[in-house]
Parts: sequence; structure tokens; C-alpha cells
Amino acid sequence: MSPAPDDGERWVELARADGVLGEVVLRRRGTPAGPLVDLVVAGVAVMDDQDTTSERALATLALDELDRLGGGRGGPHLVVGGLGLGFTAAELLADPRLGPAGRVTVVEVEPAVVAWNRAGLVPATAGATDDARLEVVVGDVAEVLPALAASAPGSADAVLLDVDNGPGFLVVPANARLYERAALAGVAALLRPGGVLAVWSAQAAPQLRDALEAVVGPTRVHRSSVVREGRDLDYYVHLAARRG
Ligand SMILES: C[S@@+](CC[C@H](N)C(=O)[O-])C[C@H]1O[C@@H](n2cnc3c(N)ncnc32)[C@H](O)[C@@H]1O
Repeated sequence: MSPAPDDGERWVELARADGVLGEVVLRRRGTPAGPLVDLVVAGVAVMDDQDTTSERALATLALDELDRLGGGRGGPHLVVGGLGLGFTAAELLADPRLGPAGRVTVVEVEPAVVAWNRAGLVPATAGATDDARLEVVVGDVAEVLPALAASAPGSADAVLLDVDNGPGFLVVPANARLYERAALAGVAALLRPGGVLAVWSAQAAPQLRDALEAVVGPTRVHRSSVVREGRDLDYYVHLAARRG
């Protein structure tokens, strides 16, 4: 069905599905700055295309950290938790440091989100989902990452997590376990020594930083300033380097 014409402030639904976490909606509305597309998961707007600085920074900061640590040469394997509107994945695929031999594995729990990206409904990934270096796995990172770590320990150069708003501001309560030490240690097992775990958070999260320091390795926090609906906001990427 064709979407209704956009009429300014009113949301126009582009797609809707019953999801694993709840209802999933892709919608669009006009704003003074131009059309805005956003993704609603379980009743909460989790991602839009208005200011994607921090989601793209998650990608470039992880690659910068790999560079700094001397890793990832010759085609890194990067694992991303949460496809969303695909900005993080598209940024990785567009980065020359991925190279022809690099691989990006994205784990997304909502099948509809994957389908909408593949159908070209999502501007960031239009075209990118055909990239042969991209594999999309439909599943919960809480199950898929430990399974990957068990079958291929130490096989990832970096893991980038943006499945929720961070430990202090959860959309999905069950995601709380992802930020706990046991889960972070499980993700560390998927990383090779010197690999990078990058975690996006809507708030500074000192407990997350402490947990990353304890179970992964030295951790730095990067702040991105973004403008949303005319407001200045700070988002954070926690970068932990796996000890050798
Ligand atoms: C904030 S969005 C990701 C935004 C993405 N970085 C981008 O650039 O568009 C979060 C995504 O993670 C997914 N998600 C939430 N919990 C998840 C989980 N436990 N495992 C895998 N995906 C999850 C949501 O369905 C949503 O698509």
C-alpha cells in the first residue's frame, strides 16, 4: 500500500509489524528541517534520521580504536548489535578501512526491521544491504553473541552494541542483562586480544565503564554532541580494548 502524502507535523506510517519485542513501526513526518523518518520498537522511538552523528561515530570510533591498537589490518571482522535504521552498519561498509576482505555481521532481533532495510524503505541502507561483505543475523544479541563466541572464540576484531539506550535508560527491560559483567565477559570472548568492544549509551554510564574495565580491558568514553528537536544533547560511546 502506498503511504499517504506527508502533511507536515502528522506522522505517516510507512510500515508496521507485530515484533518480538512488541509492535514495530517505521514512520515519517515533515519538519522545518525536512522529512524525518523514525523507528518505533515496543512503543518507543528508538532511532531517527535527524542527527545520526553518534550512531555513525560508533562505527568510526571503533575503527579508530582498532587502528590505534594496531589491529584490523587486512580486513577486520566487525559484529554490530542492532540494525535499526542502518546508519552504523552503512558507515562501516563505507569506510575504506573495512577493505574488500572485511566483514560486517549485524545481529537484529526484529525480523521486520531487517525486511524494511532490505526493501529499501530505510534511506541509510538503501543499496548497502546488497553488499557482499554484510551478513545480517536475525536474533537476540544475548543469544547470538555467546553462540558466536562459543563456535569461533576470538574471531571478531570489534563488537559494536547499539541495541538499547544504555543501562540507565532501557527501552526493553530484558536488555539490562547485556550491560552486566557476565554478558560483557561473554562478548569479550568473541573478541581477539586487542579487539574493541564499543557500546553506545544515551547517558554517561560510570558503572558500565567500570564493568568494561574489569571484564574487557582499558576503557575510554567518547562524547558526541547532537541536536534533536532544537535541543543540544550528549550521547556516549564506551570503548574497551580487550586485554591480551
Ligand atoms: C537504536 S536502534 C539501532 C540504531 C543503529 N545503530 C542505526 O544506526 O540505525 C536499536 C536496534 O536494536 C534492536 N534490538 C533491541 N534489542 C535487541 C536485542 N536484544 N538483540 C538484537 N537487536 C536488538 C532494535 O530492534 C533496533 O532495531
